[in-house]
Amino acid sequence: MGPEPILSVEAVSKGFAVDGRAVQALQRVSLHACEGEFVTLIGPSGCGKSTLLNLIAGLLEPDEGQIAFRGDGQATRLGRIGYMPQKDLLLPWRRLLDNIVLGPEIQRRDRQAARRQALELLPLFGLEGFQESYPFELSGGMRQRAALLRTLLCEQEVVLLDEPLGALDALTRRTMRDWLLQIWERFRQTMIFVTHDVDEAVLLSDRIYVFTPRPGRIVHTLPIPLPRPRSEAMVAEPTFIACRDEILHALGLGNG
Ligand SMILES: Nc1ncnc2c1ncn2[C@@H]1O[C@H](COP(=O)(O)OP(=O)(O)O)[C@@H](O)[C@H]1O
Ligand SMILES: [Mg+2]
Repeated sequence: MGPEPILSVEAVSKGFAVDGRAVQALQRVSLHACEGEFVTLIGPSGCGKSTLLNLIAGLLEPDEGQIAFRGDGQATRLGRIGYMPQKDLLLPWRRLLDNIVLGPEIQRRDRQAARRQALELLPLFGLEGFQESYPFELSGGMRQRAALLRTLLCEQEVVLLDEPLGALDALTRRTMRDWLLQIWERFRQTMIFVTHDVDEAVLLSDRIYVFTPRPGRIVHTLPIPLPRPRSEAMVAEPTFIACRDEILHALGLGNG
């Protein structure tokens, strides 16, 4: 038997009422993440990925099924899981450093220690010298990196990232995914990552769950056998290409 998952989603369904109509967002979704794993959810827009992260974070309750934390379906997850939602949600009236230490501040941890740690990490996140800037003074990429640093500083056991590179142009995105890889290899938190970018998914993940269009169901689960540490150069390897083709096929985008 493998290690017990830190997080498991068991046959979870979720619907919404929209203008009096029932919209089924997720249908019997099951997945898991073990300690230190990088798990990715990929699927078309509207298939319920963000809804699933809201459920995992404990912000929504499933209609059916359950979500267990370390095998306990009753465990509270609010406050034990770091969450970077799809919008960066930096507070516009707070300077960068004050935004970044928001998590530790809410957790009532040592404020000075949190600020020191954040300052030490600014260069790694490409934010050195910007600690006094307001969000509107920063580029989209910088705001996303700041939101990511804020999420990681909360030091939760599981981190949910909803399209953290979504707002970036293709070139910045390539640099950022390589950087994200390095960050994760350093922090090694259990990650549940959402993207609709196939290359990004293969490069980063230990395992990928492919979703159908709404209502979101898992059509395919793919372990990624590429060794670690990984690098951008691996995109040319046969294993990488085979994984990419398999995901494109599962998404219904394959040629043949
Ligand atoms: N709070 C909500 N109220 C009503 N409908 C919602 C709500 N959240 C999501 N939905 C609907 O559920 C479906 C899945 O949305 P979402 O989880 O945002 O998908 P994704 O993140 O994969 O793009 C969409 O049809 C969306 O409109
Ligand atoms: Mg979404």
